[in-house]
Amino acid sequence: MKMVEFTVLQTKLKSLFDKTGGVLFKSLLITGLAFYLLLIFFANQPCCQSSELLTSLRHRWVWNARRSFSVASATNISHIVFGVTGSTNTWRSRRHYIEEWWQPNITRGFVWLDRIPSEYLPWSPSSPPYHVSADTAGEFKDYSRHGMPHAIRMTRVILETFKEANENVRWYVITDDDTVVIVDNLVEVVGRYDHNKYYYIGGNSESIGANYENSFEMAFGGGGYALSFSLVQALVINLDECIKRYPTLYGSDHVLQSCILELGVSLTHEKGFHQIDLVRNIWGFLSAHPQAPLISLHHIDVVEPIFPSMDRHQSLEHLMKGAEVDSSRLLQQVICYHKKSNWSFSISWGYSAQIYEKIHPPSFLQKPLQTFLPWSNRARPGFMFNTRPLSNDPCEAPHVFFFRSVERANRTQVITNYSRSSPRKLPTCLSSGNHSADSISEIRVLSPVKRLNWVGRRECCDIVRFHGFNVAEVRVRGCRNDEIVA
Ligand SMILES: *[C@@H]1O[C@H](CO)[C@@H](O)[C@H](O)[C@H]1NC(C)=O
Ligand SMILES: *[C@@H]1O[C@H](CO)[C@@H](O)[C@H](O)[C@H]1NC(C)=O
Ligand SMILES: *[C@@H]1O[C@H](CO)[C@@H](O)[C@H](O)[C@H]1NC(C)=O
Ligand SMILES: *[C@@H]1O[C@H](CO)[C@@H](O)[C@H](O)[C@H]1NC(C)=O
Ligand SMILES: *[C@@H]1O[C@H](CO)[C@@H](O)[C@H](O)[C@H]1NC(C)=O
Ligand SMILES: *[C@@H]1O[C@H](CO)[C@@H](O)[C@H](O)[C@H]1NC(C)=O
Repeated sequence: MKMVEFTVLQTKLKSLFDKTGGVLFKSLLITGLAFYLLLIFFANQPCCQSSELLTSLRHRWVWNARRSFSVASATNISHIVFGVTGSTNTWRSRRHYIEEWWQPNITRGFVWLDRIPSEYLPWSPSSPPYHVSADTAGEFKDYSRHGMPHAIRMTRVILETFKEANENVRWYVITDDDTVVIVDNLVEVVGRYDHNKYYYIGGNSESIGANYENSFEMAFGGGGYALSFSLVQALVINLDECIKRYPTLYGSDHVLQSCILELGVSLTHEKGFHQIDLVRNIWGFLSAHPQAPLISLHHIDVVEPIFPSMDRHQSLEHLMKGAEVDSSRLLQQVICYHKKSNWSFSISWGYSAQIYEKIHPPSFLQKPLQTFLPWSNRARPGFMFNTRPLSNDPCEAPHVFFFRSVERANRTQVITNYSRSSPRKLPTCLSSGNHSADSISEIRVLSPVKRLNWVGRRECCDIVRFHGFNVAEVRVRGCRNDEIVA
């Protein structure tokens, strides 16, 4: 790597020198080389504070060079403007979801309401600033046969947000008022795409029925979607005319998708956006999240609280404790085995852990346990992914643990702690040797402090030790090149 950089530099300077043969370039060459050697020297000194900076600069250079586009600087939180689609009547309960992720004076954007929220004034500084959507009822009177009363107003949120904020913007992100966003992961994911091109990024529904009734290629508004600046600039020009061409579609997200398709842009699916068109208990789903950074969760007030013995707000606050320490690993699944007792461990970082008294392969464990039902029961099969049924077979039913606490152990390790939610109340799995896991009450997971580096592969783990009969300690680490989990 260094030699390559060096040779390129050398060749560039040499050709410049050859062309002019000037004294100036000779001295430039010498200065340049001296500086470069200095850079290498400092970058290799573990002692020096500046070495971290230099390494990170070099990293960034390599990272940018690997992308198919080049930008002056990495995308950060200031480049994103949020448009939260709200309504004054539901603000009382919904504001808590937004305040869970909104960072005053850091996240940019607005919540769009349908009338002045007089009952909430003075407006809380913990909420996004509010705007009242333009009253367009008259203009669109003949064009609204939408099933959702606010469909047109909600579609226009992108236009109104663009008008309010368009300086130094790379992405617009539109969400509902009952959407929770993991902002750091959103920044990381949109940063992989070129905002100067036309991008429409989001996720569809988990429910086949909902996709069937709307579109499989539509970003569902509750999960939220990210539109590149260039796309929005083009989209807003004719948006009002476009809205009139789709007077009967149900939701604003469907109207918007239709208008974006008129520009020839189709959906880029990102697996971390979650509409959560599921009902009942979603722990099975969240315990086998796809390998992609968690970006959003919606419909938190429709599903059961995601942690047992907590209410919905406590549950979200609790989930965010893990996100604050390491959002890149949040809900990421790792799988490892304790061969001496034929146990399988499956951990969804910052959320839950499971022990099976049998060796089950990753292809089995990555299928969510179906603890939930689809939004609409009309389509069979119900889901966009495979599930496995809840079972009373002692070899298939897991011991279930939930995230309890997170702490930084030291400069290199984070410890998350998962404790048993309730006894499994089943006999031991006999076919794999009669090794009961009933006594395990806590799983301690050590993971690196470094952000997870996405290499298209799940991380690996080891069961490092047991503390007495009750506590299992698991270490998360990068996998070796040819390592298999079996
Ligand atoms: C984001 O990057 C821009 C440069 O593109 C910089 O001016 C700004 O300060 C950065 N914001 C944060 C929060 O890092
Ligand atoms: C946000 O910025 C404003 C003006 O700069 C300041 O008055 C306010 O205290 C800040 N709010 C927070 C929560 O930091
Ligand atoms: C950090 O803490 C973990 C867990 O307590 C321990 O295993 C590891 O050796 C510690 N590392 C350092 C460098 O102290
Ligand atoms: C893990 O959580 C349990 C239950 O709250 C607690 O008793 C235990 O001390 C915690 N362990 C660590 C290492 O934090
Ligand atoms: C693990 O299970 C297999 C059968 O699935 C069995 O043959 C083997 O003896 C078991 N190992 C232990 C240590 O119990
Ligand atoms: C399984 O193990 C338990 C506890 O060690 C023992 O009481 C029981 O008899 C064993 N069952 C069989 C079928 O071996």
